[in-house]
Amino acid sequence: MKEIKVDVKFEELSVAELSPLDAELMNRAIAAARDAYAPYSHFHVGAALMLTNGKMVVGSNQENAASPSCVCAEVAALTQAGVLYPKVAIRDIAVVAMKKDQVTERISPCGNCRQVMLEQEKRGGSPIRILLCGKEKVQILSSVKSLLPLSFSEEEL
Ligand code: THU
Repeated sequence: MKEIKVDVKFEELSVAELSPLDAELMNRAIAAARDAYAPYSHFHVGAALMLTNGKMVVGSNQENAASPSCVCAEVAALTQAGVLYPKVAIRDIAVVAMKKDQVTERISPCGNCRQVMLEQEKRGGSPIRILLCGKEKVQILSSVKSLLPLSFSEEEL
């Protein structure tokens, strides 16, 4: 028997330390979160993507009375990018959550969102940088692979 350890490395910085472009991405995610359709959880999530062509694409959670039919903010943004810019890779994704119109502590994407992000990372052929934005601190991971170790992917098919 051998033990194998997987490390997750990420940076943590304050919102004030973000580069102007990252701050813009976070603000776009906040604006998207404000427009979320979340009448059941009242938990508003926004995601903003920066594509390699310089375009930004946003998404917000879209809830449903039948809860399995809810769509997360990250999936909404990634799906929209795949539809609008099918040949363009995604460079960064910023994710933010809001309660009562206030940004919360950072949230970490759910398992399904990670899987969808991983697919887009593979599709684009380059790592997607992930910004988990909280009201004061932001955590930055350099790829989806680091957020979803031991993942299922096309190599298993
Ligand atoms: N949600 C997201 O949009 N992204 C996540 O990564 C986690 C959860 C949404 C789904 C649901 O509308 C609400 O947050 C509460 O779970």
